[in-house]
Amino acid sequence: MEQTTNQKKVILSGIQPTGVFTLGNYLGAIRNWVVLQEEYRCAYMIADLHSITVRQEPAKLRQQILSAFATLLACGIDPEKSLVFIQSQVPQHAELSWVLSCYTQFGELSRMTQFKDKSAKHADNVNAGLFTYPALMAADILLYQADLVPVGVDQKQHLELTRDVAVRFNNAYSDTFTLPEPYIPKVGAKIMSLADPTKKMSKSDENPNGFVTILDGPDVIIRKFKRAVTDSDTRVCYAEGKDGINNLMTIYSVVTGKTLDEVEREFEGKGYGDFKLAVGEAVSDHLRPVREEHKRLLADKAYLEQVYSEGARRAQQIAQRTLSKVYRKVGFVPVK
Ligand code: TYM
Repeated sequence: MEQTTNQKKVILSGIQPTGVFTLGNYLGAIRNWVVLQEEYRCAYMIADLHSITVRQEPAKLRQQILSAFATLLACGIDPEKSLVFIQSQVPQHAELSWVLSCYTQFGELSRMTQFKDKSAKHADNVNAGLFTYPALMAADILLYQADLVPVGVDQKQHLELTRDVAVRFNNAYSDTFTLPEPYIPKVGAKIMSLADPTKKMSKSDENPNGFVTILDGPDVIIRKFKRAVTDSDTRVCYAEGKDGINNLMTIYSVVTGKTLDEVEREFEGKGYGDFKLAVGEAVSDHLRPVREEHKRLLADKAYLEQVYSEGARRAQQIAQRTLSKVYRKVGFVPVK
């Protein structure tokens, strides 16, 4: 991640520790993060500042942050290759967020679909943080001068706003921020709920049958796939109106590396029951090593502490370079 050592492109992404990561998080984002670290200078963070826009229970949040951090490592994020850190341990995120919120318009924030969805869902707590959340996300990305941001489809609108804010700032004060591009996978960018395949799979879904988490055991995973909502047809094929089957085919295709055509051929003449079981087994097998490694890492508190503390120190150094530049351009007076 050191900016002076080579000219590889910079990647930044983050994930909220608001529950165990879902299969959607994994297939839409984390799986790609692991691949990208071979070719880019990558920074990945647990977005814990973002998660308090919705009420969290402190002891549970603390445990979830650590578990989420261990999950990233268990999925294959390698601290030798990537910078991996916890957002709240790098104060520059909150500092730049304030500056950027002064360059983000009320109208722009009002148009964010995530804000509209979350404020409808938590009508009793439509706080200012929920509203200005995209300015914090812009700070996360712009602090590291990221070229690419690997995310699922649902984060695309926030990325567009980040670019708009960066352009606005650059135009006002001369070039300061690199303009980031979203990096959205062709397959798996929007994994749907197993209980309602017209809705995105989400860790905050009230219906536990809607999502599978990365850490679920084989029995739970297979049971949830067996129950997955499909249609009244019987043929396993990818087609309009077959949201449930399309979703299962996508999952199976990503997890096994087979194309959709190959999947269709494999299940020709077989029913939905066989197919659902096969998807459940494939997902469970794929996630077994992650589950085991997570358990091992979570028991090794000293190692986790060392990795996130080192990550925070390195992240602070990189972030401070950008923040100092921004403060200078805005007209603040530095400490002498
Ligand atoms: P979060 O925590 O909701 O999700 C983390 C990542 O998982 C992707 N994702 C999905 N992909 C496919 N199918 C799904 N059903 C699915 N559900 C979630 C998300 O698109 C995301 O890439 N605001 C962000 C976290 C964040 C961030 C950042 C991301 C904070 N700062 C800076 C990138 C850059 C969020 O809430 O993601």
